[in-house]
Amino acid sequence: MRAVLTAGPTLEPIDPVRFLSNRSSGQQGYALAAALADEGFEVTLVSGPTVLPDLAGVTMVRVETALEMMAAVDAALPADVFIAVAAVADWRPSEVSAVKLKLDKSAMASLPLIENPDILKTISRREGHARPSLVVGFAAETHDVAAHARAKRIRKGCDWIVANDVSGDAMGGAQNAALLITPDGEEAFPRAAKAEIAAQLATRIADAVRA
Ligand code: C5P
Repeated sequence: MRAVLTAGPTLEPIDPVRFLSNRSSGQQGYALAAALADEGFEVTLVSGPTVLPDLAGVTMVRVETALEMMAAVDAALPADVFIAVAAVADWRPSEVSAVKLKLDKSAMASLPLIENPDILKTISRREGHARPSLVVGFAAETHDVAAHARAKRIRKGCDWIVANDVSGDAMGGAQNAALLITPDGEEAFPRAAKAEIAAQLATRIADAVRA
């Protein structure tokens, strides 16, 4: 059984010293990669910049930008399972300045952005052998968590969605609570250490792939 995961934030350069990013720590994705390796999966973890150490027994691919993450996922596939845990920046500066931008008002008043590829949607929409048999997305929401996540599962075209309430300290924190949404129903995982949530999810994923 082979699994490919994304984790962490992406970092989108503005100039040699500045970037756009987000508060993702990578902890939940790393915990899930480790739990899947414990379940017997051969795991590739495509990680944005984090302070977390490489995982033993997992093939680590370190990237910075969403474009690099997309290319690394493509290089790591095919797999039985693809799990998009990364908080991919939806936008990137449309041009990266080769020199440090000067903070005069005209230069910094607006920052033109273009859309990044949606890695989860891209993989979900592939057909035949190019699509892993199980594609799982994560949904970080601050309100109406279940409703937004159900809609996201359909919009992205993935099989399962793991919904997190990030109105508290889930993003960057050590604990998480999750709602697993599948075509067959929903299961709540109460607030626990991210490693504990990961172990429960990995069991569900291994059962689904074996079946
Ligand atoms: O739409 P939203 O960003 O909230 O969707 C979250 C899910 O989509 C996560 O699984 C995330 O890893 C994935 N995603 C992605 N590529 C993007 C944006 C989100 O894979 N550009």
